[in-house]
Amino acid sequence: METQSCVEVKNEWGIVAARQAGRTLSKELGFGNVDQARITTAISELARNIYLYAQRGEIKIEIVEDKGKFGTKKGIKIIASDLGPGIPDLRQVMVDGFTTSSGLGAGLPGVRRLMDDFNIESEVDKGTTITATKWLR
Ligand SMILES: Nc1ncnc2c1ncn2[C@@H]1O[C@H](COP(=O)(O)OP(=O)(O)OP(=O)(O)O)[C@@H](O)[C@H]1O
Ligand SMILES: [Mg+2]
Repeated sequence: METQSCVEVKNEWGIVAARQAGRTLSKELGFGNVDQARITTAISELARNIYLYAQRGEIKIEIVEDKGKFGTKKGIKIIASDLGPGIPDLRQVMVDGFTTSSGLGAGLPGVRRLMDDFNIESEVDKGTTITATKWLR
């Protein structure tokens, strides 16, 4: 079983390929249809942002494990990174309804809702890395 995949995003094909990779890995890990859809939607939003705002970047998808007190949990982790313009005001972009495009997606707040863990690191003129994980239960 493949445990990770890395897709370059520089055009719409990259967005499709990233979605597909997320679908394959989440299915392999045992996520149901609804969670698979949540994960692929989150990947779409992140890949679309890379393409729109940074022109290019990559989406890494990996199967991760967390050994806790009550056993080991498994999940799928999405790492979307680019060396684009960065996001000047992170707090502002996490407010629902804030978008600079007229897209229909739920954007970054949507990604945070769809996934369990969510983190953004971004520096103006350096780039952005967004990490989001969904745990299998
Ligand atoms: N990878 C990125 N690099 C630079 N800026 C980004 C990146 N991702 C998001 N942004 C900025 O954050 C804003 C919010 O992103 P978000 O995806 O939430 O909404 P949107 O892309 O504007 O609209 P929607 O996704 O709903 O179509 C964007 O408008 C853009 O200014
Ligand atoms: Mg967006």
